[in-house]
Amino acid sequence: MIPLILDVDTGIDDAFGLLYALSRPDARLLGVSAVAGNVNLAKAVRNTRAVLALAGRPDIPVWPGAAAPLLGHVGDASDIHGDSGLGHALLPEPAPAPVAAHAVDAFLAAARDHEGRLVLVATGPLTNIALAVARDPDLPRRLARFVVMGGAFAVGGNVTAAAEFNIWHDPEAARIVLRAFSQEGAAPTILIGLDVTRQCLLSEADLDALAATCADAPNGPALTTFLRDAARHYFDLMQRRGRPRALVMHDPLAVAVALDPSLVRTTALPVDVETRGELTRGQTIADFRGEPGRIGVALEVEASRFRADYLAAITRLAGEPDCLPQERGQ
Ligand code: BDR
Ligand code: CA
Repeated sequence: MIPLILDVDTGIDDAFGLLYALSRPDARLLGVSAVAGNVNLAKAVRNTRAVLALAGRPDIPVWPGAAAPLLGHVGDASDIHGDSGLGHALLPEPAPAPVAAHAVDAFLAAARDHEGRLVLVATGPLTNIALAVARDPDLPRRLARFVVMGGAFAVGGNVTAAAEFNIWHDPEAARIVLRAFSQEGAAPTILIGLDVTRQCLLSEADLDALAATCADAPNGPALTTFLRDAARHYFDLMQRRGRPRALVMHDPLAVAVALDPSLVRTTALPVDVETRGELTRGQTIADFRGEPGRIGVALEVEASRFRADYLAAITRLAGEPDCLPQERGQ
C-alpha cells in the first residue's frame, strides 16, 4: 500500500481527484491537508470533509493549513468552482470532527513515520508545502515522490495569459518549493501543468454514461449525482465561453500520476517561478536549453488511458459496500 497525502483547495476537480484516490486499492490515504485557493480555507476544509463522508471515509483526517498565500490574499476561483467551491452539488454538512493537527505538523509527522515511502500530491497553491519545507528543509529527501498540479510550460496560462492558477495564487511559495525539490537527494518531483491537463477532458456525456453504468451499484446514484451536480456549474461556464461541456481533469490527473507515473512522459528540467513580472507574475519558466535539471515536467500524457482509468475508478468506488451514501439528504 502506498502511503498517500493530498494537499487540496477543494474545488470541483480537487473533489474528483479525492474520489479517485479513495478508489485506489493500492493506496492508503493517510489524510488530506487543506489550503486557501479556489475557496477560502474554511470552505476547503468543509468541502474536503463532505467529500470524504460521501465516499464513506469520514474517518480520514483533514488537516487545515494556510489561510492565505505567503504575501497575503489575492482572491479565489469561485467564478470557476461556484460560491461553495463544489458547483451545484449540495452535500450534507459534515459531522463535527475533533480538532485536527495543522497541515505542516501532519506532513512532517507522516514523512517521519513513512520515511522514504510517502507520496505527496499538491492540487492547490503550494503555501502549505513551502511552510513545511521552511520547518524541515530535509522534507524533500524524506518523500518517495512529490507531484504538483501546477504550471504551464509550452502553453499559455489560465488565470492570466502567462500563469496557471495554483502557481499564480502563491508564486513565492511555489518558488520556495521548486527550489527545495531541485536539490540533490530530493524525491522525484513531477509537475502536471496545463500542457497535459488540457488534454484530459471528462465530458458531460461521459458523466451521464457513468451514472447509467452505476445506477444499480450501492453507492452509484450518490456518487454520480454529486459528480454531475458539481461539474454542471463548470459545464455551463464553458458553454458560455463557447467551449465544449467538459471538465478539464487538472487535479485528478495529478493524483493518478502520483500512483502511476507512466501516464505521462516527463523531461527533467530546471524550473523556476516568475515573481516580479508585471504581466508574468506566477509564470513557470522551464529551461529547455539543455542545462541539467531535476524537476520532471510532464509534456505528454496518455489521455485516453487516464480517462478510462478514471471512469473505472469511480465505478469501483460506487460498488464498494462501505461507502455511506445514506448520509445524503440528512
Ligand atoms: C488548478 O486551479 C484550480 O482552479 C483547479 O482546482 C486546479 O487545481 C488548475 O489551474
Ligand atoms: Ca485545485
